[in-house]
Amino acid sequence: MEVQRADERALAMPAPKAVAPWGPATDPPTPDWSAVQLPPSWVDELRLFTRLSDMGKFLRRLFGPRQAVELPADLPGRHLVPSYVLEEFHHLPNGHFSHRFSESYVLWFNIAMLGRMTRVRKHIARMFAGFRAVLDLGCGGGDLAAAVKAVGVDDVVGLDVSPYMLRQAALRHPGLRLVMGAAERTGFSEARFDGMAVCFLFHELPPSAQDAALDEIHRILAPGGRLVICEPAPEQFRDNLWQLFRKAAVTGLWWRLLARLVYEPYVAQWHERDPKALLERHGFTLLEDKSDVPFRTLVAVRS
Ligand SMILES: C[S@@+](CC[C@H](N)C(=O)[O-])C[C@H]1O[C@@H](n2cnc3c(N)ncnc32)[C@H](O)[C@@H]1O
Repeated sequence: MEVQRADERALAMPAPKAVAPWGPATDPPTPDWSAVQLPPSWVDELRLFTRLSDMGKFLRRLFGPRQAVELPADLPGRHLVPSYVLEEFHHLPNGHFSHRFSESYVLWFNIAMLGRMTRVRKHIARMFAGFRAVLDLGCGGGDLAAAVKAVGVDDVVGLDVSPYMLRQAALRHPGLRLVMGAAERTGFSEARFDGMAVCFLFHELPPSAQDAALDEIHRILAPGGRLVICEPAPEQFRDNLWQLFRKAAVTGLWWRLLARLVYEPYVAQWHERDPKALLERHGFTLLEDKSDVPFRTLVAVRS
């Protein structure tokens, strides 16, 4: 019988070579970003403490009007970077694209959030315990991806549009698989993951890119897969000081200060959207929508 013959053939064949535990060979490249030589951006070339004119340029960019990010001509994966990313988010000179500020951003983001990022990342990670494969979209320094690995998921990948951020993630979490790409064009195959974590990314995308990213997530998430999105809570931007104080005590005032000071060009447009309707339009069912200043966490399932 044909079935028997197939079984015999299988038995006669040498054992398959150890397949990497992390998934299909069709994944986009995951180099060791700590070993990739990234060209310095203009910010990295400033001699801040020895050249007064460099310090002047730096301060003008820090406190003056925002300008477009300049990508080094020889930046690997330059063609993958969408133009809307070329903003000086959070007032960072050259945005997410420098050695100097990707390192300090990862550190200071956690400090400015008063340690809450660690807690929320652990909370998100626990929602993926027992999952097969999880992608951390917009992974930055890779702490969420590492937290997901820590709950026992073997196949975890982090994706970010900035190779400087990926380098930080690789240095902080050796062995983490990291891909350079845009949220709306990841390069993964269909249904590649059964879990998707997105932390503090959507509010950095203009609405058209938010829509495109949700379409892409729908494509690479398996039916029934779980999507967890954590973004700044709208109350942090909308509530008056008294309301914030009642919700988060003195820290509420700090969250408001951050909301006022930090340059987030698309956050208002993100907060204008109704997550339930948005997710439904892109093929997800919203299971949970929880606001706990400074976070709003959405849990959805891919239909
Ligand atoms: C606010 S940080 C959050 C990083 C990380 N998720 C965390 O919780 O620490 C946003 C990250 O998203 C990345 N990013 C921004 N736009 C992106 C896009 N279109 N596609 C992929 N990553 C993007 C940035 O480079 C940055 O590392």
